[in-house]
Amino acid sequence: MSILVTGGAGYIGSHTCLELLNAGYEIVVIDNLSNSKLESLNRVSELAKTDFKFYSIDLLNKKALETVFSENNIEAVIHFAGLKSVNESIETPLHYYHNNVTSTLNLCQTMGKYGVKKMIFSSSANVYGETKCVPVTEEHPLNPINPYGRTKLIIETILRDLYISDHSWSIALLRYFNPVGAHESGRIGEDPNDIPNNLMPYITQVAIGKRDKLKVFGNDYDTHDGTGVRDYIHVVDLAKGHLKALEMVIPTTGIDVFNLGTGVGYSVLDLIKGYENTTSQKIPYIFTHRRPGDIDKCYADTTKATKKLGWTATKNLEDMCYDSWKWQKNNPNGYNE
Ligand code: NAD
Ligand code: UFG
Repeated sequence: MSILVTGGAGYIGSHTCLELLNAGYEIVVIDNLSNSKLESLNRVSELAKTDFKFYSIDLLNKKALETVFSENNIEAVIHFAGLKSVNESIETPLHYYHNNVTSTLNLCQTMGKYGVKKMIFSSSANVYGETKCVPVTEEHPLNPINPYGRTKLIIETILRDLYISDHSWSIALLRYFNPVGAHESGRIGEDPNDIPNNLMPYITQVAIGKRDKLKVFGNDYDTHDGTGVRDYIHVVDLAKGHLKALEMVIPTTGIDVFNLGTGVGYSVLDLIKGYENTTSQKIPYIFTHRRPGDIDKCYADTTKATKKLGWTATKNLEDMCYDSWKWQKNNPNGYNE
């Protein structure tokens, strides 16, 4: 029996594939490589010292998807595939709704047809929108403020309706906070196609000299130093959370939702200082205006994941900065050697 990983060539997917292989699971990976490179999977294979099947297909192509299910004995699906840029989703909402929602419908329909009813879905803290109180529990009101976040909420709703219609499904909705860092080997990591939108990959590109300086978006937020506070979580901790979710989903039925974060909030300035101290690289920065749509602070209450999944993040800010830097330093051009 295999675990099907959609979007497995991507940032979080590749780290999770490695953890799955290291734990002895057999995996099958689907990715259309729209935001990733095949090289990430070559390196996963190299690190795990084992091979696995890869299908370069689009989840929008239902016929191709059926082939994967007919050719393999799939036990459960971890569904990472999706587009994830908030800005892009505002510019091209239909593309985002089509890619993220339609592909999930195709996936669920095909899973149902082949009797595979166990799924872990990559949701996001983005579904909470403006945070009313921190730390954010899973009960916090859901009000995403951009199309990307709305695709996640729509998919969560679809999966809940699916479970209501058929109680033999078993589904975990995982709401990630801010994934950063890279595998300790420095062989796999985050490889943004363009100018990074997110803070950590931007910082690492400043550190390596690809960008002059970081723009800190706003220093007048209601936080300890005026800059935005987020819950940064090491990608390997996050990947391990999926194995815990799998252990819950496989032997049971039901649907449940979990925050995956550290429960600790760091500001932009905390991250810059942490990066400088850990890597001895200087990160020049300037303060600019707030980025539209940003909120002042967001960090997770992770009690539920700890109690029900038996999972807690173990890596600290130093690990996150060190591993990001190691990946960037060893791979200045990402997977384009
Ligand atoms: P990523 O872009 O690195 O990985 C997603 C992968 O899915 C890519 O390899 C892409 O090529 C593939 N893909 C996209 N659409 C596809 C389709 N129609 N068919 C087949 N493959 C397709 O992103 P990531 O950071 O690894 O994120 C993984 C998941 O986690 C996404 O669903 C994302 O929305 C979610 N998430 C990410 C973050 C974050 O900050 N990285 C935060 C919260 C949630
Ligand atoms: N920031 C800067 N300068 C930059 C980039 C970011 O100051 O160049 C600041 C932001 O204003 C924010 C913080 O750094 O205060 C973090 O910003 P990111 O873009 O790294 O992360 P966000 O919290 O805005 O969003 C990310 C993903 C979303 C996801 C969310 C929660 O982009 O898709 O985390 O998981 F939903």
